[in-house]
Amino acid sequence: MNEQGNQSANKLSIIGAGAVGTSAAQWAVSRAIAQEIVLLDVVSGIPQGKALDLSQAAPLCGFCGTIIGTNDYADTAGSDVVIITAGLARKPGMTRDDLLEKNVQIIKSVTKQVAANSPNACIIVVTNPIDAMVYTVFKVSGFPKTRIIGMAGVLDSARYRTLIAKAVGVSPSDVSALVMGIHGDNMLPLVRLASVGGVPVKELLSPDQLEEIIRRTREGGAEIVQYLKTGSAFSTPGLAAIEMAEAILKDKKRVLPCAAYLEGEYGVNGLFMGVPVVLGKKGIERILEFELTSKEKQALDQSVEAVKRQVKATGL
Ligand code: LAC
Repeated sequence: MNEQGNQSANKLSIIGAGAVGTSAAQWAVSRAIAQEIVLLDVVSGIPQGKALDLSQAAPLCGFCGTIIGTNDYADTAGSDVVIITAGLARKPGMTRDDLLEKNVQIIKSVTKQVAANSPNACIIVVTNPIDAMVYTVFKVSGFPKTRIIGMAGVLDSARYRTLIAKAVGVSPSDVSALVMGIHGDNMLPLVRLASVGGVPVKELLSPDQLEEIIRRTREGGAEIVQYLKTGSAFSTPGLAAIEMAEAILKDKKRVLPCAAYLEGEYGVNGLFMGVPVVLGKKGIERILEFELTSKEKQALDQSVEAVKRQVKATGL
């Protein structure tokens, strides 16, 4: 806490000043989640201009910290949390896997510089395909598994909750629902555990309605790419990363679905996979495990196979 007592004296760096990185920076400033925010990009002028613009929001949103834009990793030194958004985004007709080859090279180089400058940071990986990129960051950084976290479950669950809320006609804040597995077509939106103010969603929606909600959740990213044509979703992906960063910076012990390195949990070994975790100042402080039905287990197995294929393609 600083003198104002309303924000943590922490440092957050965001790598990549594209649409998602800029959105993350904007949410970070508006929520005042860190005292120092650094926005880094390889393109000269872009992070500087965007950070200057955001710094001028301070009197309007109550942010009392600093935000700078830079091309120099030295400015990110000593970060508590680093969000990696650098890389190419999807265009219509592209799957997240199509991005793999290009983004793995970018992520390797980013990770080396992040790790050298902020050896104690927790790293949140947003670049697609997330489940393979987070694995790449884990391998290249050499950081403990607790400090490498993939974003996706928070985004996918937010989409799932929004669709449930609309169908039932209630506030999205009262919808509790979990999406596990890969950030891709084989993700697993769990129906059994979805509830509205504690009431099981299965009691409120028909199987057909639920099937449609699951389809739209799985295709949520592609639906937006179809509209935008020149890129993918950025507002909620940026916020999802900030929700995770805030849980770590403020040691909130939030229970959020994140891609975590699994060593036996859910029967998965040596892969990152979206599961519910407790996020606090040490990063992933606990993985919450529960019994899946055989149908859910089968669906999760499909996620595992898809992640394995991605990881193989990284060549790591
Ligand atoms: C999406 C991209 C970020 O799901 O993967 O919108």
